[in-house]
Amino acid sequence: MMDSKVKRIGVLTSGGDAPGMNAAVRAVVRTAVGRGVECVGIRRGWNGLINSDFIQMDAASVSHIIDKGGTVLYTARSREFMHEEGRAQALTTCKLLGLDGIVAIGGDGTFRGALALSRQAAAQGEQLRVVGIPATIDNDIGCSHYTIGFDTACNTAVECIDKLRDTMQAHERCSVVEVMGRHAGYLALYVGIAVGATAVLIPEREVDFENDVVEKIRRARLAGSTHYMVVVAEGAGSAIDIGRRIHEEVGIDPRVTVLGHIQRGGSPTARDRETASRMGYEAVLSLIEDRGNRIICTHDGRIVDLDMEEALAMTKQFQMDRYQVLEALTNTGGMQ
Ligand code: F6P
Repeated sequence: MMDSKVKRIGVLTSGGDAPGMNAAVRAVVRTAVGRGVECVGIRRGWNGLINSDFIQMDAASVSHIIDKGGTVLYTARSREFMHEEGRAQALTTCKLLGLDGIVAIGGDGTFRGALALSRQAAAQGEQLRVVGIPATIDNDIGCSHYTIGFDTACNTAVECIDKLRDTMQAHERCSVVEVMGRHAGYLALYVGIAVGATAVLIPEREVDFENDVVEKIRRARLAGSTHYMVVVAEGAGSAIDIGRRIHEEVGIDPRVTVLGHIQRGGSPTARDRETASRMGYEAVLSLIEDRGNRIICTHDGRIVDLDMEEALAMTKQFQMDRYQVLEALTNTGGMQ
């Protein structure tokens, strides 16, 4: 085993929680401990560094968390950390704790914060290595094909919509369901395909209400459907407004459901636990092997680590192939 300069690292979760964050924390701690590196859990995201809110972690401290949603380290979106003074305070804590590196589990904002912190340390002549692990149910990180939590959130939404469908079928109604995804429609796209939705609205495509909703409901009716499921990504518009327009323009009386934060909870799926474990492992190796500031990504299922600055400049290609599948399956009418 190479003799690493890295003796003690911090791990934190930041931004919106995602199922599988705990599995990533566990993998980071266990890999570090196994390599003789001490691990400190920073609590409540970057605020934990500002407020000296941390716990010493060992192998036992991450027992029985791989199956838990949420995050044992808590999470937050830190306003203070966006400012130089906040980060200066955080660097003081890093110095006091003797941290050589930090694994930050979260989304785009989390990684930008990590990079800013590392740069500020460098400006003071100090080295603080940072590694990011993508975790968000939105799956909207440009550099990584997959983000921890997405699969669990998809499955939760599908389970809820399957239940909704039963009552919609019984009453021959139309359901309008809003799923999360502030700027990204991946969740709506995957879920829409998986539930056999009548229509799906996502922020990546401008909504043409007549073609994208009204016409699809009409086709479904002509094909014999007596109930309809319209899935709306949060970023594509409000389900309440969509429901109102359907009432006005189609003359039916939809029921609206906003799934909301229920999609962020629950025990992570096997895919999320396994991906999180592999990412956590690679994150620690990346620190120990001194590869610089990195983001641990998946590319076609493989784990790769990319330079953080380059990775943050990447944008995600819209998944046109999936959208075409959705279009093909929603244009012929009928549900499922
Ligand atoms: O984590 C991503 C996300 O769930 C988005 O889909 C959603 O718009 C946002 O977070 C909600 O954030 P909050 O938990 O602050 O309400």
